[in-house]
Amino acid sequence: MLPNVLQPSATDHVPVLAEEVRESLGVRPGQTVVDATFGAGGHAALLAADLHGSGKLIAIDRDPSARAYFDRFEKRAGVQARLLRGDFGVVLEQLADNGVRADAILLDLGVSSMQLDRPERGFSYSVDAPLDMRMDTTQELTARELVNEWPERDLTMIFRRYGEERYAKQIARAIARRRKEQPFERTGELVDTIKCAIPAPARFGEGHPAKRVFQAVRIAVNDELGSLEAALPAALEMLRPGGRLAVIAFHSLEDRIVKQFLRDKERGCTCPPDFPVCVCGNEPELRAIERRPIKPSETEIAANPRSASARLRAAVKAETD
Ligand SMILES: C[S@@+](CC[C@H](N)C(=O)[O-])C[C@H]1O[C@@H](n2cnc3c(N)ncnc32)[C@H](O)[C@@H]1O
Repeated sequence: MLPNVLQPSATDHVPVLAEEVRESLGVRPGQTVVDATFGAGGHAALLAADLHGSGKLIAIDRDPSARAYFDRFEKRAGVQARLLRGDFGVVLEQLADNGVRADAILLDLGVSSMQLDRPERGFSYSVDAPLDMRMDTTQELTARELVNEWPERDLTMIFRRYGEERYAKQIARAIARRRKEQPFERTGELVDTIKCAIPAPARFGEGHPAKRVFQAVRIAVNDELGSLEAALPAALEMLRPGGRLAVIAFHSLEDRIVKQFLRDKERGCTCPPDFPVCVCGNEPELRAIERRPIKPSETEIAANPRSASARLRAAVKAETD
């Protein structure tokens, strides 16, 4: 049965790498925690429990339907909590600029099970639905507009860059041809066009033939990489010395951005490698908790197949002298 956002139930979303997130963030009573991707509040509930009745939880989500889940969470949280609706790239920056400080910040990227499983949101290639894919349903740009109006070369670029799609050019060409006759309205029409555009043997290759293009369109509609790039420095600024940041990425494009950011902030120095001594004077700002990303166990993947591609990276903000 499909989850009903107006009557949230405890089984709406299984928090991924839940114990690993708790361990990485090490939340203690009295602290301020930011869950920047609240969703159904699965992680938030665990982190709030670690506050043991004393502390604050700030929740952020760009999806207006997170409100119903937050209201349920707030009743049981046992700590002071508030929900800020908006893009975490913007909201974290506003909080940092306003002097709000946090001890733990979590970003569990991508879409939630509720968004994927509600056909009318148009995220899924396996159910025919209106072409939408907006996480923030008040945003203007939809997948429908992108697919019907973006120039063919831009479609090729996003399919290649965000979907790592081998047949990006062929698919973009097929879309451009089809939309001249009739605009795309539904996910099913896009799936059919993708299937026809790729060579028959490739249709039976890795996963569903529309998977990579749907991922690309979703990333572009929601400017997912731009939001992440804006959020990471804002999160670092918000953290108190000794505060912790944890990020769960679900594809290599996101994970690469997180990894590079943590590396740069761990190194501190921005001098060219051939400089004999450091002249920039920049100190390391973060320390990674683990060198390698933490992956879900076989048991977790068996219980929740959607966790399979999750990669958790966490770091501690440097203490100042
Ligand atoms: C994977 S789910 C999080 C699930 C949550 N950790 C839980 O346990 O229920 C990601 C959530 O983050 C939200 N989200 C994704 N990108 C966002 C952004 N740039 N700004 C704000 N919210 C975002 C989505 O709307 C979605 O609800």
